[in-house]
Amino acid sequence: MATADQVKALIKSHAEGDETRFYAIAMQMAAQEARTGHARLAQELRMLVDELRARSVREYPSESKLVPLAQPRGELAGLLTVGYSKTRLGEMALDSEVQRRIERVLVEQRERARIQEHGFTPLRKLLLVGPPGTGKTMTASVLAGELGLPLFTIQLHALITKFMGETAAKLRLVFDAVAQGRAVYLFDEFDAIGSDRASKNDVGEIRRVLNSFLQFLEQDASDSLILAATNHPALLDRALFRRFDETIEYRLPGADAAERVMKGRLALLDTASVNWVEAARAAEGLSHGDVVRACEQAAKNVLLAHRRGIDTATLVEALADRRSAHGP
Ligand SMILES: Nc1ncnc2c1ncn2[C@@H]1O[C@H](COP(=O)(O)OP(=O)(O)O)[C@@H](O)[C@H]1O
Ligand SMILES: [Mg+2]
Repeated sequence: MATADQVKALIKSHAEGDETRFYAIAMQMAAQEARTGHARLAQELRMLVDELRARSVREYPSESKLVPLAQPRGELAGLLTVGYSKTRLGEMALDSEVQRRIERVLVEQRERARIQEHGFTPLRKLLLVGPPGTGKTMTASVLAGELGLPLFTIQLHALITKFMGETAAKLRLVFDAVAQGRAVYLFDEFDAIGSDRASKNDVGEIRRVLNSFLQFLEQDASDSLILAATNHPALLDRALFRRFDETIEYRLPGADAAERVMKGRLALLDTASVNWVEAARAAEGLSHGDVVRACEQAAKNVLLAHRRGIDTATLVEALADRRSAHGP
C-alpha cells in the first residue's frame, strides 16, 4: 500500500499545482504496488495517470498544437501578437517582495476554481511598474509559462499611432478576445496612454483611449490575466491604479539579485575563479537586462579567446562597458 508520506506528498504537490511532481509520485506508487504483487492496482494507477496527463495536454496544449488555434485572426491579427512561453519563475532573480506577489498570483490562479466557488475573484488584473530591463515583460512570460497559458501582447503605443481616431474601437476588439479565451494579455508600453508625453493633437485621442481602457478593464469579468507594464509610473493617471487588483513595483537588482542573474546566465561556463562580490559591485546601478547582456558579452569574449573559464576582470569589464553604453 501507499505510504502515508506518499499520500501527503501527492496532496501537497496537487495543492501547489506541481503537476510534474504529482505524476512522478503517482507513478512511484504504481511501481511500488507492482513490486508488492498488486499488479492490477498498479496497472489501474498507471492508466489513470496516462489519462490525466492526456487531459492536461488538451487543456494546456503544447506549443506546436496551439499555434494554429490561438493565432489572432482577422482584425485582431494586427493588434495582438501571440507567444508561448516556457519561462519559469525560478529563472528570475527577484527581491523577496516581488517574488512573494508573483507567487501569490500563481497560487490564486491555480486555485481559482475553489476561490470562485466561494464567490471571490482570484488576482488577475496587474499593473507592473519599474525601470526598463527589470523583468516586467519577463513576468508576463513567467505567468504564461507557469500557468500553461498563451501570452498575447498589445503594444499600445503602436496601436494608438496606427489607428489614430479608432483606437477605442480596436481596444474593444482586444477586450472581446480577453473575454473569449483564458490567456495572459500584456498591454506593454502602457504609459503611452496614461502620460502627457503625447503631442498636442494626440491628447484628445489619448484621453479617449484611457477612458475606454478603464471602462473595459472594469467591465471585464473574464478568467484571463490582464497585465499592464510601464516604465514611468509617475506619468500614470491615479485613476488607473485603482482599477487593478495589484500593483507590482520592480527595482534595479541589489548585489544579491545581480549575483543570481550572473550565475544564471553564466551557468554553462566555468565560473570557479569569479569573485562574485566584486562582480556584483561592478553591476551596481545596472538593470537585470543589462547584467544579462554584459554576461553574454563576457562569455563570448571568453569563447573567442579559446578560454574555458571566465574570470572576474573579463566580467567586470563587460559590466563597465554596459554602464558606459548608457552614458554618464
Ligand atoms: N528579474 C530578472 N531575473 C533574471 N533576468 C531578468 C530579470 N529581469 C530581466 N531579466 C533579463 O532582462 C531581459 C529584459 O527584461 P524585461 O522583462 O524585458 O524588462 P522590462 O520589461 O522590465 O523592461 C529579460 O529577457 C531577461 O533576460
Ligand atoms: Mg518590457
